[in-house]
Amino acid sequence: MNIAVRYYSRGGNTKKIAEAIAKAVGVEAKTVSQPLTEDVDILFLGSAPYAFDVDDEVKKFIGSISVPVGRVVNFSTSAAVKSTRKYVEKLLAEKHIPVAKEEFACRGAFAMLHRGRPNESDQKAAADFARKIIS
Ligand SMILES: Cc1cc2nc3c(=O)[nH]c(=O)nc-3n(C[C@H](O)[C@H](O)[C@H](O)COP(=O)(O)O)c2cc1C
Repeated sequence: MNIAVRYYSRGGNTKKIAEAIAKAVGVEAKTVSQPLTEDVDILFLGSAPYAFDVDDEVKKFIGSISVPVGRVVNFSTSAAVKSTRKYVEKLLAEKHIPVAKEEFACRGAFAMLHRGRPNESDQKAAADFARKIIS
């Protein structure tokens, strides 16, 4: 099974989750600046919301996908919204890429909110989630 992990993280919160997921599934966590170069069965795609949307880099990455992708598994960190799923799902639908119903989302520190998140327990939960997805 071909698995890839791509993420965008301005402040490092989503990066922590990307690295926990990547380690759990035995691949490298790469940023969205690195396009997919071969077919993947599962693409773990990580992002965070900034003013009710994902960064343009995430949109650009999705737009650039030119290899077959079996399904995308969304993961995100956020301060208020549940996840970034709704922001990426439409873009992925335009590319006819299925989005798994399962996703991983946790709180990410922002200003005075959610200090210390994602924490070790979030990282462990993300790793457990990823292992379950590929099992
Ligand atoms: C400029 C800015 C705008 C943000 N807007 C939102 C938002 O609209 N909704 C939300 O839930 N969190 C929002 N947040 C919080 C981030 O999504 C949260 O801190 C996330 O964990 C950041 O991930 P990162 O460290 O990987 O960039 C915002 C944070 C910043 C810095």
